[in-house]
Amino acid sequence: MAKLIPVDVFDLVIFGGTGDLAMRKLLPALYHRHRDGQFPEGSRIIAVGRQDMDDAAYLDIVGQALQANLGEGEFDAEHWERFRGLVSYVVADALNPDGWAGLRQRLEGHEDRTRAIYLATAPSLFGPIADGFSANGLITERSRIVLEKPVGHDSASAAAINDQVGRCFRENQIFRIDHYLGKETVQNLLALRFGNTLFEPLWGRGVVDHVQITVAERLGVGDRVAFYNTTGALRDMVQNHMMQLVCLMAMEPPSSLDHDAIRDEKLKVLRALKPIGFDEVRANTVRGRYSAGAIDGQAVPGYMDELASQQQKKGVTDDGAETFVAMKLEIDNWRWSGVPIYLRTGKRLKTKHSEIIVQFQDVPHSIFSDKTRALEPNRLSIRLQPDEGVELSFMAKEPGPGGFNLRQVALDLSFEEAFGIRYHDAYERLLVEVLRGNTALFMRRDEVEAAWKWVDGIIAGWEESGQKTENYVAGTWGPTGASMLLDRDGRSWLPED
Ligand code: BG6
Repeated sequence: MAKLIPVDVFDLVIFGGTGDLAMRKLLPALYHRHRDGQFPEGSRIIAVGRQDMDDAAYLDIVGQALQANLGEGEFDAEHWERFRGLVSYVVADALNPDGWAGLRQRLEGHEDRTRAIYLATAPSLFGPIADGFSANGLITERSRIVLEKPVGHDSASAAAINDQVGRCFRENQIFRIDHYLGKETVQNLLALRFGNTLFEPLWGRGVVDHVQITVAERLGVGDRVAFYNTTGALRDMVQNHMMQLVCLMAMEPPSSLDHDAIRDEKLKVLRALKPIGFDEVRANTVRGRYSAGAIDGQAVPGYMDELASQQQKKGVTDDGAETFVAMKLEIDNWRWSGVPIYLRTGKRLKTKHSEIIVQFQDVPHSIFSDKTRALEPNRLSIRLQPDEGVELSFMAKEPGPGGFNLRQVALDLSFEEAFGIRYHDAYERLLVEVLRGNTALFMRRDEVEAAWKWVDGIIAGWEESGQKTENYVAGTWGPTGASMLLDRDGRSWLPED
């Protein structure tokens, strides 16, 4: 395993320090990086929240969260004693100009170290918090700010947030996070495509029949139903995670690994996406929403049941959000012209499974003509989760006498087996990149806004055409409309139902 290089001494300020993201992802990721020796003595994690409590009370919550969210056997009481020494809590109200004194005091005298500000809050607070840092004179030369996705809920709100944050921080101090860019397999896509001569000449029109990208989740919206109700899968998953996967899969080779070289190429893909608007939404997009069903033999509630429980508590009304989206998109450039890219993502699907499948074309002429020798086209599968790896399927002759019989076989590489190490969670990688000041794995302003513009067109199309969500039973692969989307083109989703 490569040697881990420690980062410089830092203060990491987490707004939303008591929230779900901090507890489930950020603190466990920091715990791991600390345990692996990447954090120098004196570094501090300062959680910020509105709830009034002292350090001891906060640390109790963190201790419980780590025990619940770290992998099996990863919580170690001895290491927890050391880790907790880094963590403290400050009460602050980002929207109240008088609410910054505690944080100011905590940061005073530490101006020369890395100061990373992580906003694990609603996007509406990004601008006001950036302003608060500026007004309180807390932005140092080594400061950087991390914006959790989604940045806004459409291109106009994203631009407004970017403007407001951009008045306080330079673009190279702004880290717009999309945790899919921190996933090992997503980065491996770059290694696979640009570290090998094999694939690049075959990557596109003329050889590739189509591409499928699936991000299927087993979990439902659960406690996040109020958020999901106004967001939906298109904004929550497609605008960011899936668009990033499309970009990395489809982009031209960048001239280097330099942050702007990669981001320039991703931007070109986003700008080449064929718009899907009022005239195309019905034929090219499917929206779905799960009803009660069963996953792995366990009964699970429907979206409306989850919404109803929130309605009783908070009076939330149904905004018609989808929990599933499937679509067919096209990239208008030489490489991808005429090659459909199918996307699907949804909650409460049959299993947790994320994969990019590049399906190659049939051989132009088969010399194996009878039925026992039917040829399957080659396929490259890049598995993101749960078992990260790459599989290339091709035709081979069955061994032995008895005729020239062909069968599809696979070269299957599981990264975990090949490298024999625990895979780091995406947030571990990304937090270290923030502390190092490396923006390559983060989204630039123009990328985020270009992705939103394309998504805005679909949302407007849905609204104008009144396209409703189709029901699907939890524990299936989504609504029938999704299968029909590919059926019409003579194709089917993989894995098949
Ligand atoms: C988040 C979405 O960004 O990604 C969630 O807001 C989703 O709704 C999650 O569940 C999926 O991430 P992962 O890493 O589990 O695929």
